[in-house]
Amino acid sequence: MTAARTRYAGPITEARVHEHRLAEMGFADDAALADILDRYPAELIDINLYDYDDAGQVSLRTGARGRLGGAELLAAIQQGRLWVNLREVETGWPELWAAAMEEFGRVSAAYPGLRAVRNAGQLILSSPKARVPYHFDAAGVVLFHMRGRKRVFVYPGDEAHLAETDMEQVVARQTTEELPYSLAFEADAQVVDLEPGQALTWPLYAPHRVENLDRFCVSLSMDFQTWPSRFRNGALYTNAVLRRSGARPRFTDRMSTPELAARWAMSLALKRAGAMKSRISAFERAFEPDLAAADGARAL
Ligand SMILES: [Fe+2]
Repeated sequence: MTAARTRYAGPITEARVHEHRLAEMGFADDAALADILDRYPAELIDINLYDYDDAGQVSLRTGARGRLGGAELLAAIQQGRLWVNLREVETGWPELWAAAMEEFGRVSAAYPGLRAVRNAGQLILSSPKARVPYHFDAAGVVLFHMRGRKRVFVYPGDEAHLAETDMEQVVARQTTEELPYSLAFEADAQVVDLEPGQALTWPLYAPHRVENLDRFCVSLSMDFQTWPSRFRNGALYTNAVLRRSGARPRFTDRMSTPELAARWAMSLALKRAGAMKSRISAFERAFEPDLAAADGARAL
């Protein structure tokens, strides 16, 4: 992947595997996971179930935490078809977070010039056949894989695969991170199979999707902002507001750093003024994890 295939001008130019030690430290063992599921704040847990049609188009159902104990919830994930996301690991599991930040230091040292200004983490527990649809993160990502096997597909972050107007909608929280997807994109993917102990990073903003390879999977997905990504995200937000009011703002791809910084500053004021109301705050909860139900999900 050449620099021309990504919008991000930073030091990460292609998907690349690094080593890490989080798996061997025991964070992904059954006992540790059952314990953390018991203790994790319910409001920081997302439970999703994805369905795909033959054209690769996705539909999503959202679940509630339910009343299962940690060990039973873990079993439901291991036997079902669920994707469970424990957000804000930095507050929810400080021991894992401290170890992960040490590993992040080693990974980021491989990219001279990469300066993270804010990191956040999500612990993802997913069923053997779970798949995460085509999307992008408005951040850098290091995916620390700890258990099972997963296949990650990383695509060019250019206009054909990631339209700037779609980025604006995601950054302004007018839609979830899922992007328009076509099977034709597959020819352009960089495909990486991840084993426990491997961490994957890719160019900031690069679209990607994930398929589990028939095993229960545990990964810590760490996202990070740099000053350039902060400026870019702010500029995308400002452009989303301008575009909604009928203006035709220039794409951020063509803006200089001072222009991006000015638009970022504008975005702070716009957010304070509540310029754009999020449309993705309220998901209806459609199911609850259940060991006895099909896919591990009992309809509510
Ligand atoms: Fe992602």
